[in-house]
Parts: sequence; structure tokens; C-alpha cells
Amino acid sequence: MAKFFITTAIHYVNGPPHIGHVYETIGADVLARHHRLRGDEVLFLTGTDEHGIKVQRKAAAEGVTPRALADRNSLKFQQAFDRLLISNDDFIRTTDRRHVRAVQRFWQAVETHGDIYDAKYEGWYCIQDENFVTEKEAKEIQEHPELGKTVEWQSEDAKFFRLSAFQGHVERLIEGQADFIRPENRRNEMVSSYLRPGLRDVCVSRTTLDWGIPVPNAPGHVVYVWFDALINYISAIGYGGDEEVFRRWWPADVHVIGKDIVKFHTALWPAMLHAAGLEPPRRVFGHGFLTVGGKKMGKTLGNVVDPLEIAARYGPEALRYGLLRENDFGGDGNYDADAIHTRYHSDLANGLGNLVNRTLSMLERYLYGCHHAQPELPEAETALLARFGALFARLDEMMDAFRFSQVLAEIWELIAALNKYIDDTKPWELAKAQKPDPRPRLHQIFATLAEGLRWTTAMVAPFLPDAAGKIWSVFHPGRPLEKWTFRQIAARGAIPDQTVLAKPPVLFPRVEKPSA
Ligand code: MSP
Repeated sequence: MAKFFITTAIHYVNGPPHIGHVYETIGADVLARHHRLRGDEVLFLTGTDEHGIKVQRKAAAEGVTPRALADRNSLKFQQAFDRLLISNDDFIRTTDRRHVRAVQRFWQAVETHGDIYDAKYEGWYCIQDENFVTEKEAKEIQEHPELGKTVEWQSEDAKFFRLSAFQGHVERLIEGQADFIRPENRRNEMVSSYLRPGLRDVCVSRTTLDWGIPVPNAPGHVVYVWFDALINYISAIGYGGDEEVFRRWWPADVHVIGKDIVKFHTALWPAMLHAAGLEPPRRVFGHGFLTVGGKKMGKTLGNVVDPLEIAARYGPEALRYGLLRENDFGGDGNYDADAIHTRYHSDLANGLGNLVNRTLSMLERYLYGCHHAQPELPEAETALLARFGALFARLDEMMDAFRFSQVLAEIWELIAALNKYIDDTKPWELAKAQKPDPRPRLHQIFATLAEGLRWTTAMVAPFLPDAAGKIWSVFHPGRPLEKWTFRQIAARGAIPDQTVLAKPPVLFPRVEKPSA
């Protein structure tokens, strides 16, 4: 059994989750669920990033301690993820003891390796990104207030990580390993705007801040929030605690993150790991950003979308489906309330929901709900079902490339083909005939539909886990989908002969459009 360790970025706790955060988590969840169905042993990790100036200042502004703010917002992320059917196996908080211990051990490993030195930091710092920026970047931020970012000049005694010494290592990784950074355009961006100009040493401790993890043996220093945060990917799997568990899971198979933080994950992080004698992650996927109504989301614009509001109206699956169907995960995308509304009704209620409903209603009416297994099917039916097999054969590759929108489009073509098959074969007319006995033909038609639907259900399950679970239990009562792998699902004739297929409750009830 292969292992599959997948992570998302950990979220800052200066506010509750917005649609951009959950977009990433939903994408990662879909891939995690898909790998579970492949039979892999999956570890899906997400969490919250709780230290740093941004959180400390937000807490001060609200008159609460950073810890209280972190507790409150971390809980909001966990609740939102539950509501959105996110199947993470662990949730790491950078204030967890296991994490603090791991960061301090890691620091010592890098220091022992000789890659940390004392110096004075003088330069610009961007609070929103928690990032040391160059003169040029600072100027750009100052000239573009619409970015919603601010920079401050900082000067303090600090400790530096010798990132420049890892230039060759990082180059070999990014340029030598073609699929280390995905999609391709992110890799090109990284090479031209960051790698070519040369990696610069980075300040990794702060003395003007106290909301952070204390640097070992350096009173007054706390660990820079990015150095702290990246370590979450290993602190959660036992680094510095349980060596055996750690060795089993590391390296991560994929870090799923937004395009804005690719450089931290593909240069700083591999260099840190190398300095500590550890392997880099296998792959980093930098997804695009979601805008709202075509505009960057932000408090100043007042267009921050709360994912829970959409889930309350349409259910969590409409959001999961709508976001991943409407946008190419690797590129930039947009959230559009109308598109979610339309997709929910056209694709979920009228497409999949209606197919399930009409198939099982007719089966009940014409054949008492009884499935008759068909070892052989006519050519047309065999050809129709072969289309499912053909898509299934390409599924792993498309999913691993995060081509969710394309996968969904292709699955919905097959749903349309099944709906058309019903229209063409007209079981309601056949059922009226007395002679010859229409039942053998009806058995074929409904066995074809059942098999097609079964495939559809397995392929959509990572996107629509609740609905898929309900449909699956029609075919295999008492044998939930989580207990199956694709290989078992692929075995032909898996619906036992004479199973009574009972109609599930309405999967996607109609929803009124909110009044503007
Ligand atoms: N705490 C850092 C990540 C540390 S990982 C070791 C951080 N946090 S964040 O809360 O600002 O962002 C969390 C994730 O959400 C990032 O991957 C970021 O790219 C993503 N997104 C934030 N806004 C987004 C959109 N509008 N659209 C899509 N993804 C977005 O960065």
C-alpha cells in the first residue's frame, strides 16, 4: 500500500476563514479522498499559523491576548472545515507543544550545521505577508495601496539563516526535478524572479516581538514566523518526538499552497530541510487566487465571502462542486454567487440528482426495484459503459495534476450520456408492452444504468462525499464507499443479482436565489 502525505498551507489566525482559504483546503481534500479510494494510506494535514506580528497586532487592536485570538480563530477554521466535509486526519496549530518542541529541535540541528549566524537586520518588512522585502518590493507596495499591504522599516539584532549557501541545492531541485513545482508556469516564475537573481540570507529571529517560539539559548529572540510555520509539515508527523512515525511519512507527497507563497516552499523550506539533514518534499502545487466579482478580496472593498453562508444556503457540496467546476485550480479564478446557484441546479439537481431519481423511480415502478445482473450486454450498452472505463483509466493522472474542473466536465458528459440513454431507450414505452415480454430488455437497460451510475458515484465521491455515500448505499447497502477501493469497484458485476435498489431521499433540493 502506497502512502500519500498531503498538506495545505496553515492559515493565519488574524481573522476567520474566507472563501480563498477554503478553496485550497477543498482542493486538497478532493485529492486526499481520491487517493484513499485508490487504496493509498493517506495522511491529510491542515492547521493554523498563529505567531508573528500580524496576529500580535490584531490581538492588541481587539484588546485580547494573541493566544485568545488564536484560540478563537483556529476553532473557526476547524469548524468551517468540518462543515465543508474536509477529511483532514490531523490539524496542527503552531502553538501546539509538539510543534514548539519540533521547531526548537530543528533550530538546533540547523545551528549545529553552521547555517545560522548573528547580524543586524536593517530593512523593510511587510506585515501582511510577514515577509522581509527588498527596496524595490517595498516601493511597489507603497505605490500600490490597493494591494492592501504596508511596509515598515525595521532595525534590530537578529539571527540569519545562510540561505545563499543553498543556491546550488535549490537550483538542482527546481530545475533538475521537472515536477517539483507544479503547475509549470509557477516553476518558470520562481526561476526567473527569485532563483536567477540569487538567494539571499534571511533573517530568522526577531528581538522586537515576543509572540513567537523562543530561540534555544538566545534570550530575547523568537523564531521568525515563516521559519516556525514551515516546520508544521514535520512537527505534525513526529519530528523531534516520534522518529519512527516521522520516517514513515516524510517526505510529503505534495504541499498544496497558493501562488503567493511558492517561494517560501520551494527555496527556503528545501534549504532549511537540507541544513537539518532532511529530504525536500516531493512536490509543491501552487494554485491560483480566487477573486470575488473579479476583484481582489479584502476588508476595504467589503467583498469578503464567508463560505459558511453559502454552505448554509446550498449545502457544502454545492460550494465544493461549484468552486472546483468553475475554476481551473492551477490558474486564477473567481467566486461568483450566480454561478454557484446555476451549477447547483443545472449540474447537481437536474444532472446527477435527476438521473438517480428517474432511474430508481422507474426501476421501482417497472421491476419492483429489483436489479438483475447481466453478465453480457448488447453492443450499444457495452460501448456506453466502456466510456466510463476510458475516463476512469485517465482519472489518476488528471487528479494528480489537480485538473479538477476538467475531470468534473468529463464526468458530467457521462451523466448527460446516461440521461440521454434513458430518453433514447424510453423504458416507459417498453414497460407498457405485453408481448413479447419486455422484462429482459428492461433488465438490460437498468443494469446498464446502475453500472454507469455506480461508476459515476465512485468518480464524483471525492467532490461530493455525502451525496456519493447516499447513492452508493443504494447499490451496496451496509457496505459504505469508504470501505471500497477503485480496484474492487472495477470488478464487474459487483452489484449482487436480485439486490433491491431503493430510492434515496432527494439529494439536491431546489433553493431560492437570495434576494439581492
Ligand atoms: N500562514 C501562511 C502560510 C504558512 S504555510 C507554512 C499564509 N497564511 S494565509 O492565511 O494568508 O493563507 C493561507 C493559504 O490560503 C495560502 O496558501 C494562500 O495562498 C491561500 N489564499 C489566501 N487567499 C486566497 C485567495 N483569495 N484565493 C486562493 N487562495 C488564497 O500564507
